[in-house]
Amino acid sequence: MSVADAKTLFRTTLKRRAGIGAFNITSLAQIDAFVAAAVGADSPLIVQVTGPVVEFLGPEAVAAVFGVHAERCVQPVVLHLDHTSSPELIAAAARAGFGSVMFDGSRLGLEENIDRTKRVVSMVRRLERSLGREIAVEAELGAIGGVEEGASTGTTPGATAALCDPAEAVRFVEETGVDLLAPAIGTAHGFYRTADPHIDFRRVERIGKRLEEAGIATPLVVHGGTGLPRKTLHALIDVGFVKVNISTVLKKTLIDTAYDYISKHRGEYDPTRIDEAVRAATMRCVAEHISMLRTERPSGEAAGDVDRIARRRGEDAGCE
Ligand code: 13P
Repeated sequence: MSVADAKTLFRTTLKRRAGIGAFNITSLAQIDAFVAAAVGADSPLIVQVTGPVVEFLGPEAVAAVFGVHAERCVQPVVLHLDHTSSPELIAAAARAGFGSVMFDGSRLGLEENIDRTKRVVSMVRRLERSLGREIAVEAELGAIGGVEEGASTGTTPGATAALCDPAEAVRFVEETGVDLLAPAIGTAHGFYRTADPHIDFRRVERIGKRLEEAGIATPLVVHGGTGLPRKTLHALIDVGFVKVNISTVLKKTLIDTAYDYISKHRGEYDPTRIDEAVRAATMRCVAEHISMLRTERPSGEAAGDVDRIARRRGEDAGCE
């Protein structure tokens, strides 16, 4: 059994300057395929579910199926609640067994986003004490473009006004105490119209610099992972992005594979054959993304930044 303490996993991964794929499910059957791909690649894995999908499937059902499959993993696995603005759903997911949650206040103004995120972090800290386990909290700053199951609208992909302000990133992390920050940097949920989407790397650099100057070593999250080229993903991992969210390509894989199978086998009424085809295609898709995220960096390399930040704060970086 390797259900991991998410906070430790993310901080350890940050120290190694590596990335972990966080793959969204829309159906419980996908969990088995995600785990099979991660086991095959000997990789850690984040299985994540957006608020609307958790409401549809039920947090207990998701956690139970995840728990069964997680038993097969040697590498750490985490169940994460992606994009919700409902503290009640966050509490339900935490109680059901989720190890990580996202509060999405990106539609709110800065002050309200800080205030509500802070309240969610305090609630989760209380839940940690009563449940006796760690739960990571992620939040979004700026508005990431596109739509993720209606849970986050953002604005036009790449619109400058919606991107994360580096000074606000420092204030946001310091005041809220979040464990993971998803800054809007020009990525967007859904399909990009280009093979090389524009990411505001100057902004990314300034966010990294401001956080470092403030002594903050908070792992960062890439949203809108579908369609980002390997070089972009690696450049982001190099500057402290750890969790890489991938959803749209998995929905496309599920729908296209089922559609192809049904089109070719009209008249066959054995749904498990459709599930088998979807499982195989989903495994391939997840395995490809895991391989794309691999930086093959020897563990320990590039750990200096995090250690330096921790030393400046006079504390342990929390990285084993
Ligand atoms: P994509 O749907 O673009 O892969 O983004 C996923 C995501 O960011 C989930 O939060």
